[in-house]
Amino acid sequence: EIAYYQDRFVEIDEPVIPIQERGHQFGDGIYEVIRVYEGRPFTMAEHMERLEKSAAAIRMELPYSPEEIERLSLEALNRSGITEAEIYLQVTRGIYKRQHQFPVPGASALSIVVKNARVVPEEKRESGVPVITTDDVRWKLCHIKSLNLLPNVMAKQEALEAGAHEALFVDDGIVKEGSSSNVFLVKDGTVKTYPATNSILHGITRRIAIDCARENDIPLKEEAFSLDELLEADEAFITSTTMEILSISSIDGRNLPDERPVTEKLFQAFQHKKK
Ligand code: PDD
Repeated sequence: EIAYYQDRFVEIDEPVIPIQERGHQFGDGIYEVIRVYEGRPFTMAEHMERLEKSAAAIRMELPYSPEEIERLSLEALNRSGITEAEIYLQVTRGIYKRQHQFPVPGASALSIVVKNARVVPEEKRESGVPVITTDDVRWKLCHIKSLNLLPNVMAKQEALEAGAHEALFVDDGIVKEGSSSNVFLVKDGTVKTYPATNSILHGITRRIAIDCARENDIPLKEEAFSLDELLEADEAFITSTTMEILSISSIDGRNLPDERPVTEKLFQAFQHKKK
């Protein structure tokens, strides 16, 4: 494991963040999680593009060019010696006296952490995972990959305490996404997922799953669906950088069917993209 802060590589547990860091005091920043397979970062360009979009959305300048951030990430990966890794990138508005308005001049700071990837155990892949639903109490700009994750943290904890793997945010009867994943259903052969609006994170795995559907002639609609529709679905799954494409076995204790032909096909198609 290795880390980087501002301008140097550091040990993972080395104290490097001053008390007045804005990530620490305000959650004033953005992040990305990138999966590394066999030493190669997967969809790095897409993650860098989303990092730039998140930065623009919060009116923050990145401290380095995207090319330089990518180079530093690769150097960190190299130094870590880990081949099945997760790269965590974070950019905050930096160190300043504690007041809400932006630092002048800009002081944005980059953090990188490289760790072993969390791999979904084979039994969970086979069985699928239980999920619960929870009220979507988040703000209106969920497309920004913001450090402010309190509702997501609360939701995930609620899921774990209920013996579930993920909590799905439901807003006025509509299923949006998970606390750290996007969500899809399959009904009568057609796949549905919430459209890429400001109400959800535009997941990179979500985009790949959509591409996999198109390439395999599986009909797919980016269209909102209700919790009732999800409960009546033939199949459902969540997607994320760390979970890839993962079947849902039950929702709030109500089981979905055991057969999952479409999810299985998409999962296999996804495995091909990693190569
Ligand atoms: N979470 N929705 C939310 C709210 C997320 O936090 C994430 C990712 C996703 C899936 O996005 P992607 O496919 O680009 O990973 C959807 C990361 C992994 C995390 O916070 O650890």
